[in-house]
Amino acid sequence: MQRTFRIFRFNPAEDQEPRYETFTIEVQESWTILDALNEIKWRHDGTLTYRRSCRHGICGSCAMMINGVNDLACEKQVAQIRGTITIEPLKSFPIVRDLLVDQERFFENLRLVKPWLIARTPPPTDKERLQSPEARKLLDGTWQCILCGACTSSCPVFWDNDNFLGPAALLKAFRYVADSRDEGLDARLEALDSKYGVWRCHTVFNCVEACPKALNPTDGIVQLRRRLISEKL
Ligand code: F3S
Repeated sequence: MQRTFRIFRFNPAEDQEPRYETFTIEVQESWTILDALNEIKWRHDGTLTYRRSCRHGICGSCAMMINGVNDLACEKQVAQIRGTITIEPLKSFPIVRDLLVDQERFFENLRLVKPWLIARTPPPTDKERLQSPEARKLLDGTWQCILCGACTSSCPVFWDNDNFLGPAALLKAFRYVADSRDEGLDARLEALDSKYGVWRCHTVFNCVEACPKALNPTDGIVQLRRRLISEKL
């Protein structure tokens, strides 16, 4: 069957303004949006630029806006969408070219929350640091984040000021703060308890809608706030 794609195009080195280019191509029933982009790039216009890697919803590379909704191009099926399909880059990140955005700010914010296990006490000599199944279960809904940026790109607070850590970095912070083996809350306070940290979230919930892994960054942010408050009491 034939489907029409309206794709955002912009090459800052040559173009004064962004434009949209339309491609009508033959697609197969099982194709994802990424399959269609590959078909366009490989058979129609080799200059079309976008990021992709694993093709299995794991690496987070191909997050983009599909008919106005952030999603992973490798997971969204063409058959799930009727009519012309408009594909645009993730909002609020600088555009490198076409659908490819610069996510450096996103990863800078992530680094500020120290997204790794911080353990100060020496490890046991005869085994690794253990965690009970119950404590491990508390981390479900946090570790599945693939850092695609779909949530942060949908957040109006981040649109207004990209110093805001954003839902992805905050959910990742919560993943470690909630870990029974972690002893690094103090080291993360400077970022989390700052004016660009947990308190800047306005509980808009766009991030929950946008997450292609059905995670709930807002809940993580609220739980971080509770933890910070309880530390201060
Ligand atoms: Fe933004 Fe999500 Fe908070 S969209 S304002 S981080 S609830």
